[in-house]
Amino acid sequence: MLVDHHTEILITAEQIRQRTRELAQEISGEYEGKDLHLICVLKGGVVFLVDLMRELTVPHSVDFMATSSYGSSTESSGVVRILKDLDEPIAGRNVLIVEDIIDTGHTLDYLTRILRERNPSSLRICTLLDKRERREVDIPVDYVGFDIANKFVYGYGLDLDQLYRNLPFVAVFKPGPYGT
Ligand code: PRP
Repeated sequence: MLVDHHTEILITAEQIRQRTRELAQEISGEYEGKDLHLICVLKGGVVFLVDLMRELTVPHSVDFMATSSYGSSTESSGVVRILKDLDEPIAGRNVLIVEDIIDTGHTLDYLTRILRERNPSSLRICTLLDKRERREVDIPVDYVGFDIANKFVYGYGLDLDQLYRNLPFVAVFKPGPYGT
């Protein structure tokens, strides 16, 4: 069952569609005539990436990266490792990183540092969700879908114990009356 008593919708599918369209228009305008190369950070970013791509009106290529934090939590270590690197070089390209959520900022801080060393023409960030309250590292974000409060969210790419990434909306987990 996709929706039960634990699920409260924070951002509806229609709101996501509308905002994605707006972001895609903005990005398409700014990258007109440029070589746009999207980099998606797996796994959470993939749902947003696909919908964003379909709304972009400029030609673009895409590549994927997978990262993981050392230990159980990014906030405690701030150390990120690469599980899957890019397939292609990015030197001289206009790179746009597509993320589902920025939380502490450690993932993108690390990623942007290593990607900059590869000499892209430009490097920008687009995230669907931004949990600014939780930020530990200052990251300049160029395109933000929604600023959200510090609540556990899932759906639309984000997981709840690796499940529910397929939900068409962003949900907030709501514990049951007896901790169920
Ligand atoms: C999420 C998200 C970012 C990162 C943001 O990925 O997709 O990559 O956390 O957190 P930070 O700003 O605190 O570094 P997650 O590690 O949950 O992996 P997943 O996308 O595979 O679910």
